Amino acid sequence: MLVGGEGTRLRPLTLETPKPMVPIMNMPFLERTLRRLKEAGIEDVLLPAGYLPDAITSYFGDGSRLGLRLQYVIEESPLGTAGALKNIERLIDGPFFVLNGDVFTSLDLRAMLEFHRSKGGIGTLHLIRVDDPSPFGAVVHDEDGRIQTFVEKPPRDQAPTNEINAGTYLLEREVLDWIPAGRAVSIERETFPELIRSGERPLYAYTTDDYWIDLGNPEAYMSAHRHVFDGVMPLGLTPEIDGPGRETIPASAVRPPVFVGRNCRVAPDAVVGPYTVLGDDCTIATGAVIADSLLWDGVVVERDAQLSWAIVASRAHIGAGARIDHGAVIGHDAQIAPGAIVEENARVAAER
Ligand code: GDD
Ligand code: MG
Repeated sequence: MLVGGEGTRLRPLTLETPKPMVPIMNMPFLERTLRRLKEAGIEDVLLPAGYLPDAITSYFGDGSRLGLRLQYVIEESPLGTAGALKNIERLIDGPFFVLNGDVFTSLDLRAMLEFHRSKGGIGTLHLIRVDDPSPFGAVVHDEDGRIQTFVEKPPRDQAPTNEINAGTYLLEREVLDWIPAGRAVSIERETFPELIRSGERPLYAYTTDDYWIDLGNPEAYMSAHRHVFDGVMPLGLTPEIDGPGRETIPASAVRPPVFVGRNCRVAPDAVVGPYTVLGDDCTIATGAVIADSLLWDGVVVERDAQLSWAIVASRAHIGAGARIDHGAVIGHDAQIAPGAIVEENARVAAER
């Protein structure tokens, strides 16, 4: 699992929390993925990391809590998506999955493994179809699935297809021979295009119509929650109200669907929801209105404050009567003054 990216587009959330530890319904996204791997029968997971790795290693340790064997390899400087694999070559002894650490999907890994075996290529790439391929890797293949071109981040009007690299690969160990050692290498811009050009053992496309989203920016992160609430991405939530704190929140405050963490204190005449997540230990005071918003742990919202479509990182404090407008992202420990207005799409980090 590639977990070394800096999560730039999710700042200020990722100033303290590396992207894989960003929660989906209060559980680090990486934990959800690791549980999926375990369910698919995978037990050994290598994690090339580099950006805020302690947040990852201290949470998961050796992985035994999840029934996995985890090994971390910390990069002193980022080695890129292929360099990260070359760097752990000695730990890889057979065909292996590679997962981008920010992809949230319902892909069936066992089915992909079967497909890979039946094709016998040097690698298989999971593809999905999107409306706009420009932020992704566009992948062209023939009817048999053989990949013919891979274009990373094509200009919007020049994408050759709307099928994109969905960030899950199944590779034979031989792919590692194509990656130069000792420098940063991009699998998307160098390794895949070179392999394709060489015309040696083919790479195959495995296109599915699974649920899929790259959590790399606030809009996508927010949409992922909406999709879980609506059951588009099935996580088995109880409709209307879920979460370990669902019995403790006053019914008068709930506008479904909502997800409530542990030990929250919510005033009976506050409004929480729809499409809202409260982390653990949040306090929502009287008259506060929180709609379409994601609050992490320990967030305090004072009386009569209003949040709509906001993301608020841990321990932030929203003063009385403040208004947080659509698309705003508030960082860890940030203090929003009473009566302040945080404008649409603003990014607010704590002063340190
Ligand atoms: N260890 C390590 N070292 N990991 C890295 C490094 C690095 O130097 N650089 C990036 N990563 C990790 C990121 O943490 C992330 O999990 C993954 O590699 C992909 O990086 P992103 O920065 O998220 O790339 P992207 O979203 O712009 O594009 C990639 O994903 C798309 C699908 O979501 C590409 O693979 C595209 O082709 C693909 O369509
Ligand atoms: Mg990404």
